[in-house]
Amino acid sequence: MNKTAIILAAGSGSRAGGSVPKQLQNLHGIPVFLHSVNRFISGCQDTQIILVVNPSYRDMFIKHLAGNDTCIHIVNGGKSRLESVAAGLRAVSDNETGLVAVHDAARPLLSVDMIRRGWKCAAEHAAAVPAIQVTDSLRKRDGTLSHAVDRALYMAVQTPQIFRTDILKKGYKELESLAETELAALTDDASVVERMGIPVHTYEGEATNLKITGPADLAIAHTILSAL
Ligand code: C5P
Repeated sequence: MNKTAIILAAGSGSRAGGSVPKQLQNLHGIPVFLHSVNRFISGCQDTQIILVVNPSYRDMFIKHLAGNDTCIHIVNGGKSRLESVAAGLRAVSDNETGLVAVHDAARPLLSVDMIRRGWKCAAEHAAAVPAIQVTDSLRKRDGTLSHAVDRALYMAVQTPQIFRTDILKKGYKELESLAETELAALTDDASVVERMGIPVHTYEGEATNLKITGPADLAIAHTILSAL
């Protein structure tokens, strides 16, 4: 069994329409971020959990974790998601055969089965991301025009994205010498390892693993949880 660590990126201050950041908003009785903490804990008991937070809200995260925080290490995030994940990675112990999962705390509804699929795929292939079929039609921008593209060629990518720890650490180290424009093109962790020439495998994601962005997403997540 590989040693495992989880980086939960809960670092931004975006509010999804509420008065506190979306990761701290109430979803079915507990804050959004705690749903994924609980699911990761039940999906893998013996793991290091690193929660990356916006320093302005650190105390609120600690308050919500009361009694549950012994295995959770809290670190301050940065201005961008990349900076927050880099801060989380610095807290992950070096381990040649270890695996690290990076999950957006704004995706509270991932299932324990999906987490297990992810660990298995990453143990086999070193770089594993969850993906689902695109169901909307897709068009490619072309100035003020657009052109239809074959959606069967594309997938929507989610988190947790899971990697061999040494590979992800090396990928993030290499980012230190990149220009802002190059960094802006790296929208997830898979793109960080892919630029090192590492092949990225996909495992089956879940349509319900939605990302909370606005108030409508919170309402949808609440409805899904009520139906379970
Ligand atoms: O803002 P957005 O939803 O795209 O962020 C995706 C994920 O990255 C969220 O879970 C958010 O908490 C995290 N993030 C972060 N640090 C930032 C920006 C975003 O941890 N500075």
